[in-house]
Amino acid sequence: MRLAIIGSGYVGLVTGACLADFGHTVVCVDKSASRIDTLQRGKIPIYEPGLDAIVAQNMRDGRLSFTTDIAGSVKGADAVFIAVGTPSRRGDGHADLSYVYQAAREIAQALQDNTVVVTKSTVPVGTGDEVERIIHERRQSSVIKVASNPEFLREGSAIQDFKHPDRIVIGVEDEHARAVMAEIYRPLFLNKSPILFTSRRSAELIKYASNAFLAMKVTFINEISDLCEKVDADVQEVALGLGADNRIGPKFLHAGPGFGGSCFPKDAVALVKTAQDCDSPLRLIETTIAINDTRKRAMARRIIQAAGGNVRGKTIAVFGLTFKPNTDDMREAPSISIIQALQDAGANVSAYDPKGMDQARALWSDVAFHASPYEAARNASAICILTEWEQFRALDLQRLEKVVAQPVLVDLRNIYSEEEVTRFGFAYSGIGSRPRTPTHFTDLAAARERLVEAV
Ligand code: NAD
Ligand code: UGA
Repeated sequence: MRLAIIGSGYVGLVTGACLADFGHTVVCVDKSASRIDTLQRGKIPIYEPGLDAIVAQNMRDGRLSFTTDIAGSVKGADAVFIAVGTPSRRGDGHADLSYVYQAAREIAQALQDNTVVVTKSTVPVGTGDEVERIIHERRQSSVIKVASNPEFLREGSAIQDFKHPDRIVIGVEDEHARAVMAEIYRPLFLNKSPILFTSRRSAELIKYASNAFLAMKVTFINEISDLCEKVDADVQEVALGLGADNRIGPKFLHAGPGFGGSCFPKDAVALVKTAQDCDSPLRLIETTIAINDTRKRAMARRIIQAAGGNVRGKTIAVFGLTFKPNTDDMREAPSISIIQALQDAGANVSAYDPKGMDQARALWSDVAFHASPYEAARNASAICILTEWEQFRALDLQRLEKVVAQPVLVDLRNIYSEEEVTRFGFAYSGIGSRPRTPTHFTDLAAARERLVEAV
């Protein structure tokens, strides 16, 4: 099939490259000339493991190309995917649909009859109706059909997620669109990935409900983690026991500094806004957002406490800036609020991230960026791990201990155990378990007393 993808960001690029890998002929479009120029030269403008090889192979085989010519790209296409950004609208938090509607306007007249337009971007329920209206208005005809095909890939494992999805959701309102979408995803269907055909509106809502539920699950374990610290339980053990129940499942139960990223935060807010507009509030998600917002500054207070309570003029080393490992994406990374709070308290922040420093440099002029964790740790009063990059799992603690001002490790991703770290002279503070201090049992007794009183 001949496919065009409008928007060559994280989702558009991965979608285009993987669909080309399935054997389709794909042209990826972007309005950013520099992005397209980079891609045409065989360079990948984002960091996503495995993407460069797939792009290179499919370019060589002539199945994948890049252009800024939106009208030219959609001519003769069997389907056109809209994969542009839907960020939070400034001021009210609704999804900003201006890029989606602009793309619809730009493709409308160049489409051939029977091309299926597919919204791959995450869009609020009802957006497909509006995209269809925009296109019909411009063409004075109603032969073009719009399908919804939300994307569930995660950054950092995008290729695997795209090629081996738990499900493919396709919202369609007519048989032709259904047949075209089935043909596009036939290779995955043969691989036994379930394809779920729904109404267009259900598909749009499935995407938001999925992200909101996962954000809520992460927030739930984060709150349980806080309770673990009060009652001397261990959140990793609790997550194991909780997740062993098939009805709950073990994934997304890693306590941490709060969820971030380009999607959970903005999608949770957008869903809440839709629900409020429909007079059907989603109070669980409203609370999830509020808890997650306060958590990040609470994490900064934890770091300050671990560093001795006063960080004015002291150096705090931050290991990991991106919102998760294996991406260079800094959007809504917890590091942003945490570093701001540390700086507000007077700390000098010294940072290292394996892939995120180019994007991070654009955010801060007053953070010292270093080429290795060992340089970032020099003279630090505390080291804090904010992102669980693989390379942080095997730090040379002996070497670090020699360069820091104070051996304190705050591990907000629980990639170390207290025993491993204290052996090298570090004080350790993880998430969701209490450090083994001499006062620990006394505190437990006090916590139990408080619980008994509360009951
Ligand atoms: P992105 O910002 O990385 O990329 C969007 C691209 O679209 C940009 O390169 C931009 O220049 C381009 N663009 C905007 N308007 C255009 C136009 N009219 N013509 C051509 N190009 C245009 O965004 P992203 O992270 O890929 O997200 C895209 C959508 O997919 C969003 O709705 C997002 O919520 C959703 N989504 C993202 C992820 C993810 O992991 N990033 C996962 C699932 C779904
Ligand atoms: C998320 C969803 O997982 C994807 O299904 C979805 O397609 C995507 O959003 C999207 O719509 O853009 P992504 O944001 O790439 O994917 O990353 P996740 O792995 O979901 O992590 C999101 C945040 O939650 C990160 O900050 C991560 O550190 C945090 N998290 C995740 C935890 O703190 N604990 C966990 O157990 C899992």
